[in-house]
Amino acid sequence: AEVIIVKDQDEAGEIYARCVADLIKTKPDCVLGLATGSSPLAGYRHLAKIVHDEHINVSSVRGFALDEYAGLDPEHPESYRSVITRTVVEPIGLTPDLVHVPNGNLDTIREAGHEYDAAIEAAGGVDLQILGIGTDGHIGFNEPGSSLASGTRIKTLTEQTRIDNARFFDGDVDKVPTHCITQGIGTIMKARHLVLMAFGDGKAEAVAETVEGGVSSLCPASALQLHPHATVIVDEAAASRLR
Ligand code: F6R
Repeated sequence: AEVIIVKDQDEAGEIYARCVADLIKTKPDCVLGLATGSSPLAGYRHLAKIVHDEHINVSSVRGFALDEYAGLDPEHPESYRSVITRTVVEPIGLTPDLVHVPNGNLDTIREAGHEYDAAIEAAGGVDLQILGIGTDGHIGFNEPGSSLASGTRIKTLTEQTRIDNARFFDGDVDKVPTHCITQGIGTIMKARHLVLMAFGDGKAEAVAETVEGGVSSLCPASALQLHPHATVIVDEAAASRLR
């Protein structure tokens, strides 16, 4: 992967936003792969600003989110459907019907994964996928041990991830769903360009494993080494364990 070391999250966000804006100008109906979590937020903010300042028409841009909690009402403020609406669709002005989030409804979750992968394929594939990374090297909700060839499917959240995400559920880990539906690593790898962002020393070990470790399902993000166009944008702290 190509590694870019930046001053801070804001600078990383500018790079991402410029890259997306250029993509939209050349391909107005491009397909964006979207992540939740804190790492991409500055990127979404900068993109919203560029789109408004430069009057870029985003009405045909399509999007596919990485993941969603299982069995959580999509109207819940912390569902990834709500988070994507609040942080991406509304500020950037995307057409809501063109932005998809995996369906975590328990009644249909067994088929939902295949349907989601088919929808991505029917859209022509993802042009640019933004990714955050977990301290354990997860991408999407693909925790260590996930098959590197996996498609979108239901997964069990690890105890650590539920503890990490309790901050969004009144600090109460019991309120965090136990399962999710996530794009697989194989799904993510089909995107034409991957941009992974990581900030802070808590991510340093995972970044080093991802970029310089062996390719292994024990660090799901290490699959990026097999991708022909992967960009890793990190601050000094997250880069500190690179050789
Ligand atoms: C988000 C996602 C996760 C996060 C990762 C990092 O849709 O799938 O893999 O990208 O947990 O989260 P932050 O950016 O909050 O550190």
